[in-house]
Amino acid sequence: MENELLNIKNNAVSLILDAKEKSELEEIKLQFLGRSGNLTSLIKGISKLPEEKRKEIGMLANEVKQTIEEAIDRQAVSLSKQTTTARREKIDITNPSIHPPLGHRHLITQAIEEITEIFEKIGFNRVRYPEVEWDWYVFEALNFPKNHPARDDWETFFIDEKEHPKYGSMVLAPHTSGGQIREMERIKPPIRMLNIAKAYRRQSDASHTAMFHQFETLFIAENVSISYLKGVLDYFTRSFFGEKREARIRPYHFEFTEPSFEVDVTCGVCMGKGCKLCKEGWLEMGGAGMVHPDVLKAGGIDPKKYSGFASGWGVERVLMMREGLNIDDLRLIYSNNLDFLEQF
Ligand code: DAH
Repeated sequence: MENELLNIKNNAVSLILDAKEKSELEEIKLQFLGRSGNLTSLIKGISKLPEEKRKEIGMLANEVKQTIEEAIDRQAVSLSKQTTTARREKIDITNPSIHPPLGHRHLITQAIEEITEIFEKIGFNRVRYPEVEWDWYVFEALNFPKNHPARDDWETFFIDEKEHPKYGSMVLAPHTSGGQIREMERIKPPIRMLNIAKAYRRQSDASHTAMFHQFETLFIAENVSISYLKGVLDYFTRSFFGEKREARIRPYHFEFTEPSFEVDVTCGVCMGKGCKLCKEGWLEMGGAGMVHPDVLKAGGIDPKKYSGFASGWGVERVLMMREGLNIDDLRLIYSNNLDFLEQF
């Protein structure tokens, strides 16, 4: 009986070590330790043995049983480790992953962020004011005489809304200059405002879109002179267009500034020499000037104590000027044409 037990142990252990699947282990377990398994039947026979043998064989049988059970457990653990390694090996982690189609920010949004950063470095604070605005903010408080034809220059969209006794009609903001008054109402000087917002005008052709963006600066403090304006203008020109570009101001007229200027930047194609695009070497960027005393008054600021400058330029315009983009039709920017947008 002793030999039989040792045979069973050896057989079982070698079968267990050869097993490749957990199901095989189950079968082996049944074969040896099941109710009618080899070992079980042998153990049943122990009671028939002579008394003095029973204990010894009993202990041996128990040992064999334990060895088989432990071998089965160990093999089961090592099989499950192998399967996870195998599964892992099937995933080649060096394969390039699937790239989800990622978009990027619109070129105008990128320009707005860049402009914001440039002005934030010199302490200007980015704000935004309503796109649906009262006449008072965009015209009246900016010194536009009532019913004066100057209002027509701005090709304003009017909202079909009852006139307000103080603020007049409701309009789509035709420029960001109304933000000057709103900012003066919001805080006391010193004021360093950068208002970047949408502007709307009733015009749509190759060089105009009915909706576009402007960035408006307003600087108000004591003793602000034109040299402040020129300094900020030069700083912006260098930062946005590059060290080689220059800016100049020339006299102009706006209702809300006195004196008023138009600002030009040297052409990026010929660097100021004169070419087909610019003719004389300069490209017009937008307006600027010293805030008119009446505008300060309308904003509740004492013009005897404070002075300031303001400027208003087009985001689309400065971007086109910088990139030297020769877009035949400005409306392309807002046409959701991916072939165009993906280039930026
Ligand atoms: N608001 C003017 C426009 O849309 C631009 C402008 C001119 C803004 C002179 C200013 C300024 O702040 O001082 O054409």
